[in-house]
Amino acid sequence: MSTSHKIAVLPGDGIGPEIMEQAVKVLKAFEQKFGASFELTSAPIGGAGIDSDGVPLPEGTLKLAQESDAVLMGSVGDFKYDNLDPKIRPEQGLLQIRKALGLYANLRPVKGYKCLEHVSTLKPEVVTGIDVMVVRELTGGIYFGQPRAREGSGKDEKAFDTLVYSQPEIERIARVGFEMALSRRKQLVSVDKANVLASSQLWRDVVNAVAKDYPQVEVSHMYVDNAAMQLILNPKQFDVILTENMFGDILSDEASMLTGSLGMLPSASLGEKKANGKRNALYEPSHGSAPQFAGQNKVNPVAQILSLALMLEYSFGYKQEAAQIDQAIEQVLNEGYRTFDIMGEGATLVGTAELGDRIAAALLKLPSAVSV
Ligand code: NAD
Ligand code: IPM
Ligand code: MN
Repeated sequence: MSTSHKIAVLPGDGIGPEIMEQAVKVLKAFEQKFGASFELTSAPIGGAGIDSDGVPLPEGTLKLAQESDAVLMGSVGDFKYDNLDPKIRPEQGLLQIRKALGLYANLRPVKGYKCLEHVSTLKPEVVTGIDVMVVRELTGGIYFGQPRAREGSGKDEKAFDTLVYSQPEIERIARVGFEMALSRRKQLVSVDKANVLASSQLWRDVVNAVAKDYPQVEVSHMYVDNAAMQLILNPKQFDVILTENMFGDILSDEASMLTGSLGMLPSASLGEKKANGKRNALYEPSHGSAPQFAGQNKVNPVAQILSLALMLEYSFGYKQEAAQIDQAIEQVLNEGYRTFDIMGEGATLVGTAELGDRIAAALLKLPSAVSV
């Protein structure tokens, strides 16, 4: 296939660059194996943007992202920016790019590998075969609501944020959740705090209204505190979890532990479909920049590599081919090669780069049942 796809590569901070390197290795192997072709252009975001341009989302980075077919991101944030004005913290770069590209739908698949069932802190029988999709609203709620401020001083100092959702914002993410459920086991649990919050009461009403268009999907509602508990008690009861921005942030980190490590959890952030059928999209691990491990060739690159696989599937339609990346990962893990966070008895401890090399090599060696 000769078409070249444009990808904006934003490694970011902390462990971002070293895990991105592994995803790029796997992408090169993918190109070689399937004859696909990608044009990669790197740009700074987060702390890297503050260092190069004085802001967490430099204009050139946003322009590149807007002109690309997809964005592959690492992660942002480092202790060294903790005392900056909150408006130019690295994390603002991520929030700004999500907003600017209209990436309202964040998909966080939580899929366990059989060979890692003993790695989770939960009992193997609780986590074996886990397959949950968290659909998180990403451009609304308390992360973006106005007004927000910190004002006054001493005992008069106060700070506030606003949790606001409009009907259309809820409806569009609910539709993503229901469509997702339709393509899976047809069960959707909408998570809210409707016993307390007005925004959640609207959320629940809108989800119930959208549910009428999806009679095949079994829908239920759960309060977020109970959902946090149920995820640990009996995670297999969940197929699709649909929730608002902050609850999704928290529950997805919690859910990652069902797989054994936060280092295993990818994500896709998608915008609305445009007239030409395309949509803006950014792919990044669900985890952060783990700055305490940066530059040590130690952390797990799998979440980043799985984010690449999601990009190949969702943005470029390489569904079967991307599934081979997943197979390559599983094969290498089955062979016992592990980073520290997913180590187990009898396994071989390897660094970030070696795991990346092995996954790229395994992909090349898999019988290529499909070609593009
Ligand atoms: P974090 O996700 O960076 O790390 C939490 C813990 O998870 C780490 O201490 C480590 O034990 C583990 N972990 C994370 N990624 C791992 C990997 N690939 N391999 C092995 N272990 C891994 O969260 P944090 O420590 O709360 O935040 C650190 C920085 O990252 C902060 O600046 C925060 O704002 C930022 N952050 C960025 C993103 C993002 O870019 N999307 C997401 C979350 C946090
Ligand atoms: C995530 C992160 C971000 C979020 C931060 C870094 C802004 O935690 O992607 O999960 O809260 O959305
Ligand atoms: Mn998070």
